[in-house]
Amino acid sequence: MWLPTFYVVLLFNIFKTVLCQFTVANGIYSFGYFNGTSKAKLSNVLDVLRPQTGFSFRTCMDHGTLFYQRNIIGDSITLKLDNGDVIFSLQSVVDNINTSVSYEGNFNNNEWIHVMFQHNSTTDQGSNLYLSIGNHTNLLYNSITDPTIFNMEFSESSVTFIGGNEDPNENFNGCLSSGPYFNFQAYNGTNVQWNNCPLLNTNICGPRCNDSVCNNGSCIATNTEISC
Ligand SMILES: *[C@@H]1O[C@H](CO)[C@@H](O)[C@H](O)[C@H]1NC(C)=O
Ligand SMILES: *[C@@H]1O[C@H](CO)[C@@H](O)[C@H](O)[C@H]1NC(C)=O
Ligand SMILES: *[C@@H]1O[C@H](CO)[C@@H](O)[C@H](O)[C@H]1NC(C)=O
Ligand SMILES: *[C@@H]1O[C@H](CO)[C@@H](O)[C@H](O)[C@H]1NC(C)=O
Ligand SMILES: *[C@@H]1O[C@H](CO)[C@@H](O)[C@H](O)[C@H]1NC(C)=O
Ligand SMILES: *[C@@H]1O[C@H](CO)[C@@H](O)[C@H](O)[C@H]1NC(C)=O
Repeated sequence: MWLPTFYVVLLFNIFKTVLCQFTVANGIYSFGYFNGTSKAKLSNVLDVLRPQTGFSFRTCMDHGTLFYQRNIIGDSITLKLDNGDVIFSLQSVVDNINTSVSYEGNFNNNEWIHVMFQHNSTTDQGSNLYLSIGNHTNLLYNSITDPTIFNMEFSESSVTFIGGNEDPNENFNGCLSSGPYFNFQAYNGTNVQWNNCPLLNTNICGPRCNDSVCNNGSCIATNTEISC
């Protein structure tokens, strides 16, 4: 499902406004660099059922968790990069279901990719929750046919991470920027360089690891270079 062009333009303008406000107040950061060993636990909760909420990421790397939220009973929502694609997944203990939606694309192209949850209410056909990754928009759930997410409660007792989840091997490597109704009120950020994004210095990505590049020895890639 595609958004009408004017609406995409509107979304972009909202994000542009947000991206230009690189201000810091009281531990509310607007953007930061995550180096692959970083993540930040937020003190605020993301409510994806607001009319619009989102953030942006920028990376050259294939994998990593962008955002993770779990409530006290173990229900969770996760957004991660996998092979350059983006996967949204939901795990509900109460309803005993796990679902996921994939967005295929080269989202690890060192451009700002905007993530936007959009919750549209209608009356007799329930409400719809959409998720846009860049210019790809999918209907995630309808409140009548797929009510799980609409019944999940993420309150102050929930755990919210950006740039990682509870598994240390899933960390993101790149930049994250706050967006509409998604402040980065971080406490307990580990190795995050707030108000810095070295990827802004270049529009291209460095070389990528493959079998031949290190004579089949182990290869470590960062966003800008590789080392053997
Ligand atoms: C959902 O995933 C979790 C974690 O991988 C697993 O423990 C659980 O059994 C799964 N539930 C269903 C219904 O597949
Ligand atoms: C959601 O509702 C708004 C306002 O009614 C509309 O402009 C927008 O196109 C809708 N979004 C989707 C994905 O249908
Ligand atoms: C979506 O974005 C890609 C890459 O930025 C671009 O090539 C493509 O034309 C865009 N599609 C639409 C429908 O805007
Ligand atoms: C932050 O980390 C400290 C020390 O590791 C811990 O005591 C504290 O509970 C953490 N705060 C939150 C909100 O997780
Ligand atoms: C392996 O990576 C190097 C450096 O990025 C590149 O020059 C080369 O073409 C790649 N080889 C293959 C088979 O992808
Ligand atoms: C690296 O591995 C590939 C395939 O696994 C093999 O074809 C190639 O000869 C190896 N190169 C070296 C330098 O060992």
